[in-house]
Amino acid sequence: MAEPAPAEDPVLTAESLTAGYNGVVAVAGVNLSVSAGEVLSILGPNGAGKTTTLLSLAGVLPMMSGRVTVLGERVDSRRPYRMVRRGMRFVPDDRGLFPSMTVREHLRLARRRPDKNREHLVFDRFPALAKLQSRTVGLLSGGEQQMLAIAMALLAEPRLLMVDEMSLGLRP
Ligand SMILES: Nc1ncnc2c1ncn2[C@@H]1O[C@H](COP(=O)(O)OP(=O)(O)OP(=O)(O)O)[C@@H](O)[C@H]1O
Ligand SMILES: [Mg+2]
Repeated sequence: MAEPAPAEDPVLTAESLTAGYNGVVAVAGVNLSVSAGEVLSILGPNGAGKTTTLLSLAGVLPMMSGRVTVLGERVDSRRPYRMVRRGMRFVPDDRGLFPSMTVREHLRLARRRPDKNREHLVFDRFPALAKLQSRTVGLLSGGEQQMLAIAMALLAEPRLLMVDEMSLGLRP
């Protein structure tokens, strides 16, 4: 017998999402639904609107119309921290790191529970980061920065993870 679906499943929905900049529409009529455990890829050529869609889903860019829910709650771009509290993490295409801070400081910031050190999980996945912990982030290569950005999101043990340009700068 099937388990009853949790109240927050699907973890992400968009209905008729329209988004853009300064009143100019960049993407229109986006409908999608992501269930727990599911992976969804958004593919398209440069300028197709992938980043615009993700920014709206994450509540960074106010949507022009439509309805988006994240982890059971309607997205409100005036309060993006609410989705973060519920377990959403978003890695933007510019990675959102602090160039003058070290790798170690970033990883400490990202821990969801300060008492629980789960950084070994990150180093299992990205062994290169282990040796770079004292390095200032502005001195990392693009790929190393990408590893750190994804590592920070994973350390937070997210229930919904959205990554713009997941493999940017990473070798296969
Ligand atoms: N800040 C902005 N202000 C105005 N227009 C923008 C802005 N950012 C993007 N656009 C425009 O919105 C459209 C969609 O861009 P978007 O960045 O979402 O594309 P993308 O699919 O992520 O492309 P890429 O593969 O190059 O990352 C493009 O026509 C782009 O020129
Ligand atoms: Mg993009």
